[in-house]
Amino acid sequence: MVQRYSQLCPVAFGAGAVSTTGAVAKELGFSRVLIVTDENVKKMGHTQKVIDSLAAAGMETFLFADCEMDAPDYTVQTGADLVKTHAIDGIVGIGGGSVLDTAKGISTLAANHVSVSELLDSARNMMPLENPPIKLILIPTTSGTGSESTIIAVISDTKNHEKIGAIAPPSFAIVDPELTLGMPKEITVYTGMDAFSHVCEALTSVQPNPHSDILCYDTIERITKWLPIAAADPLNLEARENLALASNNAGIAFNDAMVHLGHAIAHAMGATFHIPHGIACALVTPVILELTAPVYPEKVKKIGTCMGLTISATDPQEIGIDVANGLRQFQKQLGIPTLPDLTISREQIIGCTNYVANEGLRFLCPVPATEECIAASLAKIYDCYQ
Ligand SMILES: NC(=O)c1ccc[n+]([C@@H]2O[C@H](COP(=O)([O-])OP(=O)(O)OC[C@H]3O[C@@H](n4cnc5c(N)ncnc54)[C@H](O)[C@@H]3O)[C@@H](O)[C@H]2O)c1
Ligand SMILES: [Fe+2]
Repeated sequence: MVQRYSQLCPVAFGAGAVSTTGAVAKELGFSRVLIVTDENVKKMGHTQKVIDSLAAAGMETFLFADCEMDAPDYTVQTGADLVKTHAIDGIVGIGGGSVLDTAKGISTLAANHVSVSELLDSARNMMPLENPPIKLILIPTTSGTGSESTIIAVISDTKNHEKIGAIAPPSFAIVDPELTLGMPKEITVYTGMDAFSHVCEALTSVQPNPHSDILCYDTIERITKWLPIAAADPLNLEARENLALASNNAGIAFNDAMVHLGHAIAHAMGATFHIPHGIACALVTPVILELTAPVYPEKVKKIGTCMGLTISATDPQEIGIDVANGLRQFQKQLGIPTLPDLTISREQIIGCTNYVANEGLRFLCPVPATEECIAASLAKIYDCYQ
Protein backbone atom coordinates (compact mmCIF):
# COMPACT_ATOMS: atom_id res chain seq x y z
CA MET A 1 0.00 0.00 0.00
CA VAL A 2 1.28 3.49 -0.81
CA GLN A 3 1.12 5.74 2.22
CA ARG A 4 1.26 9.50 2.29
CA TYR A 5 2.90 11.61 4.97
CA SER A 6 3.79 15.24 5.39
CA GLN A 7 4.32 18.03 7.85
CA LEU A 8 1.67 20.70 7.68
CA CYS A 9 3.76 23.73 8.63
CA PRO A 10 7.23 24.68 9.93
CA VAL A 11 7.86 24.49 13.67
CA ALA A 12 10.25 26.55 15.80
CA PHE A 13 10.93 24.50 18.93
CA GLY A 14 12.86 25.33 22.10
CA ALA A 15 12.99 27.24 25.36
CA GLY A 16 12.60 30.95 24.63
CA ALA A 17 11.17 30.40 21.12
CA VAL A 18 8.26 32.75 21.87
CA SER A 19 10.68 35.68 21.56
CA THR A 20 11.01 34.89 17.83
CA THR A 21 7.30 35.57 17.18
CA GLY A 22 7.97 39.05 15.75
CA ALA A 23 10.64 37.75 13.35
CA VAL A 24 8.37 34.92 12.18
CA ALA A 25 5.45 37.35 11.71
CA LYS A 26 7.72 39.59 9.62
CA GLU A 27 8.76 36.61 7.45
CA LEU A 28 5.08 35.88 6.88
CA GLY A 29 4.37 39.49 5.90
CA PHE A 30 2.20 40.50 8.90
CA SER A 31 1.71 44.18 9.72
CA ARG A 32 -1.61 44.43 11.65
CA VAL A 33 -1.85 41.47 13.98
CA LEU A 34 -4.72 40.06 16.05
CA ILE A 35 -3.46 38.23 19.14
CA VAL A 36 -5.92 35.55 20.23
CA THR A 37 -5.64 34.30 23.82
CA ASP A 38 -7.57 33.81 27.08
CA GLU A 39 -7.58 35.63 30.41
CA ASN A 40 -5.54 32.92 32.23
CA VAL A 41 -2.72 32.92 29.69
CA LYS A 42 -2.76 36.71 29.68
CA LYS A 43 -2.49 36.82 33.49
CA MET A 44 0.48 34.42 33.36
CA GLY A 45 2.35 37.04 31.28
CA HIS A 46 2.74 34.82 28.19
CA THR A 47 0.59 37.03 25.97
CA GLN A 48 2.72 40.06 26.84
CA LYS A 49 5.81 38.26 25.50
CA VAL A 50 4.06 37.94 22.14
CA ILE A 51 2.92 41.59 22.19
CA ASP A 52 6.49 42.72 22.99
CA SER A 53 8.06 40.58 20.28
CA LEU A 54 5.56 41.78 17.65
CA ALA A 55 5.98 45.41 18.71
CA ALA A 56 9.78 45.11 18.48
CA ALA A 57 9.31 43.90 14.90
CA GLY A 58 7.25 47.01 14.13
CA MET A 59 3.78 45.42 14.08
CA GLU A 60 0.54 47.02 15.18
CA THR A 61 -1.25 44.66 17.59
CA PHE A 62 -4.90 44.13 18.63
CA LEU A 63 -5.81 41.88 21.55
CA PHE A 64 -8.70 39.39 21.72
CA ALA A 65 -8.54 37.64 25.11
CA ASP A 66 -12.11 36.30 25.27
CA CYS A 67 -11.42 32.68 24.34
CA GLU A 68 -13.33 30.05 26.33
CA MET A 69 -12.96 26.30 26.86
CA ASP A 70 -13.62 24.19 23.75
CA ALA A 71 -13.73 27.07 21.28
CA PRO A 72 -17.42 28.06 21.31
CA ASP A 73 -18.75 29.23 17.93
CA TYR A 74 -19.69 32.71 19.19
CA THR A 75 -16.07 33.51 20.18
CA VAL A 76 -14.94 32.53 16.68
CA GLN A 77 -17.55 34.90 15.22
CA THR A 78 -16.53 37.79 17.51
CA GLY A 79 -12.85 37.32 16.67
CA ALA A 80 -13.54 37.17 12.93
CA ASP A 81 -15.58 40.38 13.16
CA LEU A 82 -12.58 42.07 14.83
CA VAL A 83 -10.32 40.94 11.97
CA LYS A 84 -12.59 42.66 9.49
CA THR A 85 -13.06 45.83 11.60
CA HIS A 86 -9.32 46.35 12.09
CA ALA A 87 -8.13 45.18 8.64
CA ILE A 88 -5.96 42.52 10.28
CA ASP A 89 -3.51 40.71 8.00
CA GLY A 90 -2.05 38.16 10.40
CA ILE A 91 -3.18 36.26 13.51
CA VAL A 92 -1.19 34.87 16.45
CA GLY A 93 -2.91 32.39 18.79
CA ILE A 94 -1.26 31.78 22.18
CA GLY A 95 -2.85 29.41 24.69
CA GLY A 96 -4.15 25.88 25.16
CA GLY A 97 -5.94 23.91 22.46
CA SER A 98 -9.16 25.86 23.03
CA VAL A 99 -7.39 29.14 22.20
CA LEU A 100 -5.51 27.66 19.24
CA ASP A 101 -8.72 26.23 17.78
CA THR A 102 -10.50 29.56 18.26
CA ALA A 103 -7.64 31.30 16.43
CA LYS A 104 -7.82 28.71 13.65
CA GLY A 105 -11.58 29.20 13.36
CA ILE A 106 -11.14 32.98 13.24
CA SER A 107 -8.46 32.75 10.54
CA THR A 108 -10.67 30.75 8.21
CA LEU A 109 -13.97 32.48 9.00
CA ALA A 110 -12.55 35.99 8.53
CA ALA A 111 -11.17 35.06 5.09
CA ASN A 112 -14.60 34.00 3.84
CA HIS A 113 -17.96 35.69 3.45
CA VAL A 114 -19.93 33.33 5.69
CA SER A 115 -21.24 33.24 9.26
CA VAL A 116 -19.86 30.84 11.85
CA SER A 117 -22.94 28.60 11.54
CA GLU A 118 -22.36 28.39 7.76
CA LEU A 119 -18.72 27.54 8.49
CA LEU A 120 -19.85 24.70 10.78
CA ASP A 121 -22.37 23.47 8.20
CA SER A 122 -19.72 23.29 5.49
CA ALA A 123 -17.40 21.45 7.93
CA ARG A 124 -20.19 18.97 8.68
CA ASN A 125 -20.56 18.32 4.96
CA MET A 126 -16.77 18.17 4.53
CA MET A 127 -16.88 21.10 2.09
CA PRO A 128 -13.85 23.39 2.51
CA LEU A 129 -14.52 27.14 2.30
CA GLU A 130 -13.55 29.05 -0.83
CA ASN A 131 -10.67 31.23 0.43
CA PRO A 132 -7.57 30.06 2.29
CA PRO A 133 -7.32 31.25 5.91
CA ILE A 134 -5.55 34.42 6.98
CA LYS A 135 -1.93 33.60 7.89
CA LEU A 136 -1.71 32.23 11.39
CA ILE A 137 1.05 31.57 13.95
CA LEU A 138 0.11 29.20 16.79
CA ILE A 139 1.91 29.05 20.14
CA PRO A 140 0.73 26.29 22.53
CA THR A 141 0.87 26.81 26.30
CA THR A 142 -0.29 23.27 27.10
CA SER A 143 1.38 20.03 25.99
CA GLY A 144 -1.49 17.95 24.70
CA THR A 145 -3.52 18.86 21.66
CA GLY A 146 -0.79 19.34 19.04
CA SER A 147 -3.34 21.67 17.41
CA GLU A 148 -0.48 23.97 16.32
CA SER A 149 0.48 21.28 13.78
CA THR A 150 -2.91 19.93 12.70
CA ILE A 151 -5.25 21.03 9.95
CA ILE A 152 -8.39 20.79 12.07
CA ALA A 153 -9.99 23.36 14.38
CA VAL A 154 -12.40 21.71 16.83
CA ILE A 155 -15.19 24.25 17.32
CA SER A 156 -18.20 23.88 19.62
CA ASP A 157 -21.59 24.30 17.97
CA THR A 158 -23.32 25.74 21.03
CA LYS A 159 -26.85 25.51 19.60
CA ASN A 160 -26.65 21.81 18.72
CA HIS A 161 -24.22 20.81 21.52
CA GLU A 162 -21.74 19.29 19.09
CA LYS A 163 -17.97 19.54 18.56
CA ILE A 164 -17.22 20.01 14.86
CA GLY A 165 -13.86 19.71 13.09
CA ALA A 166 -13.35 22.49 10.52
CA ILE A 167 -10.43 22.72 8.10
CA ALA A 168 -8.09 25.55 9.20
CA PRO A 169 -4.37 25.01 8.52
CA PRO A 170 -1.90 27.16 10.51
CA SER A 171 1.09 28.77 8.76
CA PHE A 172 3.72 28.36 11.50
CA ALA A 173 4.01 26.79 14.97
CA ILE A 174 6.19 28.13 17.79
CA VAL A 175 6.60 25.54 20.55
CA ASP A 176 8.24 27.01 23.64
CA PRO A 177 8.33 24.57 26.59
CA GLU A 178 9.00 27.44 29.03
CA LEU A 179 5.38 28.52 28.52
CA THR A 180 4.24 25.30 30.20
CA LEU A 181 6.48 25.65 33.30
CA GLY A 182 4.46 25.69 36.50
CA MET A 183 1.27 24.32 34.92
CA PRO A 184 -0.83 22.72 37.68
CA LYS A 185 -0.74 18.94 38.03
CA GLU A 186 -4.31 18.36 36.78
CA ILE A 187 -3.94 20.33 33.53
CA THR A 188 -0.50 18.76 32.96
CA VAL A 189 -1.85 15.25 33.33
CA TYR A 190 -5.08 15.70 31.37
CA THR A 191 -3.39 17.40 28.43
CA GLY A 192 -0.54 14.86 28.44
CA MET A 193 -3.04 12.03 28.17
CA ASP A 194 -4.67 13.78 25.21
CA ALA A 195 -1.35 13.56 23.34
CA PHE A 196 -1.01 9.92 24.44
CA SER A 197 -4.47 9.17 23.01
CA HIS A 198 -3.58 10.85 19.70
CA VAL A 199 -0.71 8.46 19.09
CA CYS A 200 -2.58 5.35 20.23
CA GLU A 201 -5.31 6.17 17.70
CA ALA A 202 -2.87 7.21 14.95
CA LEU A 203 -1.08 3.85 15.31
CA THR A 204 -4.33 1.91 15.09
CA SER A 205 -6.37 3.87 12.53
CA VAL A 206 -7.27 2.58 9.08
CA GLN A 207 -4.61 4.84 7.55
CA PRO A 208 -1.40 4.61 9.62
CA ASN A 209 1.93 5.41 7.94
CA PRO A 210 5.58 4.68 8.76
CA HIS A 211 6.50 8.30 9.53
CA SER A 212 3.64 8.73 11.99
CA ASP A 213 4.41 5.36 13.60
CA ILE A 214 7.97 6.46 14.46
CA LEU A 215 6.71 9.67 16.06
CA CYS A 216 3.99 7.75 17.90
CA TYR A 217 6.24 5.22 19.64
CA ASP A 218 8.67 7.96 20.63
CA THR A 219 5.75 9.97 22.05
CA ILE A 220 4.61 7.04 24.18
CA GLU A 221 8.10 6.64 25.65
CA ARG A 222 8.44 10.35 26.39
CA ILE A 223 5.00 10.71 27.99
CA THR A 224 5.34 7.57 30.11
CA LYS A 225 8.71 8.76 31.42
CA TRP A 226 8.18 12.50 31.78
CA LEU A 227 4.48 13.02 32.59
CA PRO A 228 4.75 11.69 36.18
CA ILE A 229 7.89 13.83 36.66
CA ALA A 230 6.21 17.03 35.39
CA ALA A 231 3.12 16.26 37.48
CA ALA A 232 5.23 15.98 40.63
CA ASP A 233 7.64 18.81 39.78
CA PRO A 234 5.83 21.45 37.67
CA LEU A 235 8.99 23.55 37.21
CA ASN A 236 11.13 20.75 35.75
CA LEU A 237 12.21 22.19 32.37
CA GLU A 238 13.59 18.90 31.00
CA ALA A 239 10.22 17.23 31.62
CA ARG A 240 8.39 20.17 30.03
CA GLU A 241 10.67 20.04 26.96
CA ASN A 242 10.02 16.35 26.48
CA LEU A 243 6.27 16.74 26.87
CA ALA A 244 6.12 19.72 24.51
CA LEU A 245 8.03 17.76 21.88
CA ALA A 246 5.83 14.69 22.44
CA SER A 247 2.65 16.73 22.07
CA ASN A 248 3.83 18.44 18.88
CA ASN A 249 5.06 15.17 17.36
CA ALA A 250 1.74 13.54 18.24
CA GLY A 251 -0.05 16.36 16.39
CA ILE A 252 2.15 15.87 13.32
CA ALA A 253 1.55 12.10 13.52
CA PHE A 254 -2.22 12.20 13.76
CA ASN A 255 -2.60 14.98 11.23
CA ASP A 256 -1.78 12.29 8.64
CA ALA A 257 -2.75 9.02 10.28
CA MET A 258 -5.83 10.52 11.96
CA VAL A 259 -7.61 9.66 15.18
CA HIS A 260 -10.72 7.51 15.16
CA LEU A 261 -13.34 6.06 17.49
CA GLY A 262 -11.57 7.28 20.65
CA HIS A 263 -11.92 10.88 19.56
CA ALA A 264 -15.46 10.37 18.29
CA ILE A 265 -16.25 9.25 21.87
CA ALA A 266 -14.14 12.01 23.47
CA HIS A 267 -15.98 14.65 21.44
CA ALA A 268 -19.32 13.18 22.51
CA MET A 269 -18.23 13.22 26.17
CA GLY A 270 -16.92 16.80 25.89
CA ALA A 271 -20.04 18.11 24.17
CA THR A 272 -22.40 16.25 26.55
CA PHE A 273 -20.72 16.51 29.96
CA HIS A 274 -18.37 19.50 29.44
CA ILE A 275 -15.43 17.65 30.97
CA PRO A 276 -11.83 18.49 29.96
CA HIS A 277 -10.93 16.89 26.62
CA GLY A 278 -7.86 15.16 28.07
CA ILE A 279 -9.90 13.32 30.72
CA ALA A 280 -12.28 12.00 28.08
CA CYS A 281 -9.32 10.89 25.94
CA ALA A 282 -7.61 9.19 28.88
CA LEU A 283 -10.74 7.26 29.84
CA VAL A 284 -11.44 5.96 26.34
CA THR A 285 -7.89 5.05 25.23
CA PRO A 286 -7.55 1.68 27.06
CA VAL A 287 -10.87 0.62 25.52
CA ILE A 288 -9.60 1.56 22.05
CA LEU A 289 -6.38 -0.43 22.53
CA GLU A 290 -8.38 -3.48 23.58
CA LEU A 291 -10.74 -3.09 20.62
CA THR A 292 -8.00 -2.72 17.99
CA ALA A 293 -5.49 -5.28 19.35
CA PRO A 294 -6.95 -8.12 17.26
CA VAL A 295 -6.27 -6.01 14.11
CA TYR A 296 -2.86 -4.66 15.22
CA PRO A 297 -1.50 -7.10 17.86
CA GLU A 298 2.17 -6.24 17.24
CA LYS A 299 1.55 -2.51 17.40
CA VAL A 300 -0.48 -2.69 20.58
CA LYS A 301 2.17 -4.93 22.12
CA LYS A 302 4.83 -2.35 21.16
CA ILE A 303 2.74 0.41 22.79
CA GLY A 304 2.93 -1.67 25.98
CA THR A 305 6.69 -2.19 25.59
CA CYS A 306 7.24 1.55 25.03
CA MET A 307 5.37 2.08 28.31
CA GLY A 308 7.83 -0.22 30.05
CA LEU A 309 5.29 -3.03 30.45
CA THR A 310 6.28 -6.68 30.05
CA ILE A 311 3.70 -8.19 27.73
CA SER A 312 4.13 -11.94 27.56
CA ALA A 313 0.70 -12.68 26.04
CA THR A 314 0.66 -13.90 22.43
CA ASP A 315 -3.09 -14.02 21.88
CA PRO A 316 -4.12 -10.67 20.29
CA GLN A 317 -7.11 -10.21 22.59
CA GLU A 318 -5.00 -10.89 25.67
CA ILE A 319 -2.33 -8.46 24.45
CA GLY A 320 -5.06 -5.81 24.22
CA ILE A 321 -6.34 -6.54 27.72
CA ASP A 322 -2.84 -6.51 29.25
CA VAL A 323 -1.80 -3.22 27.63
CA ALA A 324 -5.17 -1.61 28.44
CA ASN A 325 -4.87 -2.63 32.09
CA GLY A 326 -1.27 -1.36 32.26
CA LEU A 327 -2.46 1.98 30.90
CA ARG A 328 -5.33 2.13 33.41
CA GLN A 329 -2.85 1.58 36.23
CA PHE A 330 -0.64 4.39 34.90
CA GLN A 331 -3.67 6.69 34.76
CA LYS A 332 -4.72 5.78 38.32
CA GLN A 333 -1.25 6.74 39.55
CA LEU A 334 -1.56 10.07 37.72
CA GLY A 335 -4.95 10.76 39.30
CA ILE A 336 -7.20 10.53 36.21
CA PRO A 337 -10.74 10.58 37.67
CA THR A 338 -13.30 7.81 37.06
CA LEU A 339 -16.74 8.45 35.58
CA PRO A 340 -18.36 8.13 39.06
CA ASP A 341 -15.82 10.72 40.33
CA LEU A 342 -17.17 13.00 37.60
CA THR A 343 -20.77 12.13 38.64
CA ILE A 344 -21.44 10.53 35.26
CA SER A 345 -23.55 7.37 35.50
CA ARG A 346 -23.32 4.20 33.40
CA GLU A 347 -26.65 5.08 31.76
CA GLN A 348 -25.47 8.58 30.93
CA ILE A 349 -22.29 7.41 29.25
CA ILE A 350 -24.12 4.75 27.22
CA GLY A 351 -26.52 7.55 26.29
CA CYS A 352 -23.73 8.99 24.10
CA THR A 353 -24.13 6.10 21.61
CA ASN A 354 -26.25 8.08 19.18
CA TYR A 355 -23.85 11.06 19.15
CA VAL A 356 -20.88 8.78 18.45
CA ALA A 357 -22.79 6.89 15.74
CA ASN A 358 -23.16 10.21 13.90
CA GLU A 359 -19.47 11.19 14.27
CA GLY A 360 -17.44 10.81 11.06
CA LEU A 361 -14.22 9.82 12.87
CA ARG A 362 -15.69 6.44 13.77
CA PHE A 363 -15.24 5.35 10.13
CA LEU A 364 -11.46 5.52 10.61
CA CYS A 365 -11.60 2.77 13.25
CA PRO A 366 -10.25 -0.53 11.87
CA VAL A 367 -13.04 -2.41 13.66
CA PRO A 368 -16.50 -1.52 12.31
CA ALA A 369 -17.89 0.91 14.88
CA THR A 370 -21.49 -0.31 14.83
CA GLU A 371 -23.98 1.01 17.37
CA GLU A 372 -23.51 -2.21 19.33
CA CYS A 373 -19.72 -1.78 19.36
CA ILE A 374 -20.06 1.88 20.41
CA ALA A 375 -22.46 1.09 23.26
CA ALA A 376 -20.21 -1.75 24.48
CA SER A 377 -17.14 0.54 24.34
CA LEU A 378 -18.94 3.24 26.32
CA ALA A 379 -20.04 0.71 28.96
CA LYS A 380 -16.46 -0.54 29.23
CA ILE A 381 -15.20 2.96 30.03
CA TYR A 382 -17.44 2.85 33.09
CA ASP A 383 -17.00 -0.80 34.06
CA CYS A 384 -13.23 -1.20 33.63
CA TYR A 385 -11.96 1.95 35.36
CA GLN A 386 -13.32 2.37 38.87
N1 LIG B 1 -7.34 20.98 16.67
C1 LIG B 1 -6.83 19.86 17.09
O1 LIG B 1 -6.13 19.20 16.35
C2 LIG B 1 -7.12 19.42 18.49
C3 LIG B 1 -6.52 18.26 18.99
C4 LIG B 1 -6.82 17.88 20.29
C5 LIG B 1 -7.68 18.63 21.07
N2 LIG B 1 -8.27 19.76 20.54
C6 LIG B 1 -9.19 20.59 21.33
O2 LIG B 1 -8.40 21.35 22.26
C7 LIG B 1 -9.22 21.65 23.41
C8 LIG B 1 -8.49 21.32 24.68
O3 LIG B 1 -7.28 22.03 24.76
P1 LIG B 1 -6.33 21.89 26.05
O4 LIG B 1 -6.39 20.49 26.53
O5 LIG B 1 -5.03 22.46 25.69
O6 LIG B 1 -7.07 22.74 27.17
P2 LIG B 1 -7.66 24.23 27.15
O7 LIG B 1 -7.08 25.00 26.02
O8 LIG B 1 -9.15 24.12 27.22
O9 LIG B 1 -7.07 24.82 28.49
C9 LIG B 1 -7.43 24.29 29.76
C10 LIG B 1 -7.13 25.33 30.83
O10 LIG B 1 -5.72 25.49 30.97
C11 LIG B 1 -5.38 26.86 31.00
N3 LIG B 1 -3.98 26.97 30.57
C12 LIG B 1 -3.49 27.05 29.31
N4 LIG B 1 -2.14 27.10 29.36
C13 LIG B 1 -1.78 27.04 30.66
C14 LIG B 1 -0.51 27.06 31.34
N5 LIG B 1 0.64 27.11 30.70
N6 LIG B 1 -0.53 27.00 32.70
C15 LIG B 1 -1.71 26.93 33.38
N7 LIG B 1 -2.92 26.91 32.80
C16 LIG B 1 -2.95 26.96 31.44
C17 LIG B 1 -6.41 27.51 30.10
O11 LIG B 1 -6.53 28.89 30.36
C18 LIG B 1 -7.66 26.73 30.50
O12 LIG B 1 -8.25 27.25 31.65
C19 LIG B 1 -10.50 20.82 23.26
O13 LIG B 1 -11.56 21.64 22.83
C20 LIG B 1 -10.14 19.80 22.19
O14 LIG B 1 -11.27 19.36 21.46
C21 LIG B 1 -7.98 20.15 19.29
FE1 LIG C 1 -7.41 15.09 21.39
